[in-house]
Amino acid sequence: MKRISAEKAVDLIEDNMIVGLGTGSTVKYALKKIGTRISEGLQIKGIPTSNETKKLALKYNIPLTNLAEHPEIDLTIDGADEINSDLNLIKGGGGALTREKIIAFHSKKLVIVADDSKVVKSLGIDFALPVEVVKFGWETTKKTLETFECICTLRKIFEDPFITDNGNYIIDCEFDRITNPEDLEQKLNMIPGVVENGLFIGLAHKAIVGGSQGIMTLEKEQLAT
Ligand code: A5P
Repeated sequence: MKRISAEKAVDLIEDNMIVGLGTGSTVKYALKKIGTRISEGLQIKGIPTSNETKKLALKYNIPLTNLAEHPEIDLTIDGADEINSDLNLIKGGGGALTREKIIAFHSKKLVIVADDSKVVKSLGIDFALPVEVVKFGWETTKKTLETFECICTLRKIFEDPFITDNGNYIIDCEFDRITNPEDLEQKLNMIPGVVENGLFIGLAHKAIVGGSQGIMTLEKEQLAT
């Protein structure tokens, strides 16, 4: 299901596009397919959202660029941990949320690829919200996050804290449900020490969702009507 949605999204890529390359197990299929299309003559440049994606892009011979050279991205393909009916998202299960949000913000189109387990009625029901925080004072930042009525856990890999590509920590915040994601996104980012949170509000234009019945596409325009 991840593969069919990712490969379908790659069909949207056209010659000479600047393409944002997301992170995660679904996007991996897209990267492989982009590599195949490049070997067949497609000419694009990609901007990776993580070191992991950069490595895979190099493996698949995807030419890379950066935001300094290309501040406007034509199309970004990225995964998500949760997608609600407004096409708002939780992202950051892979810890790449800050770079993913920067790339998404500067993209003319953000297409989300996912399997149907990611579609939810309310954000926060199944997945803890990742929040990237600077190391300095992280314990106090965590206490402040806890005032938002969530259970907060420092993300670890075995015994050690997980470190993002930006050299920061991730605190995963478990809510019963997130009733007002727009408001929460802004309030969390007001806390000193918070770099970014995994709520992606109003950024996605389309979600291509793979399920046992095939592909379902959610479009922003459809949602608005
Ligand atoms: C990376 O930080 C995340 O935002 C991923 O895009 C998200 O976790 C989806 O990952 P999977 O495709 O592996 O489920």
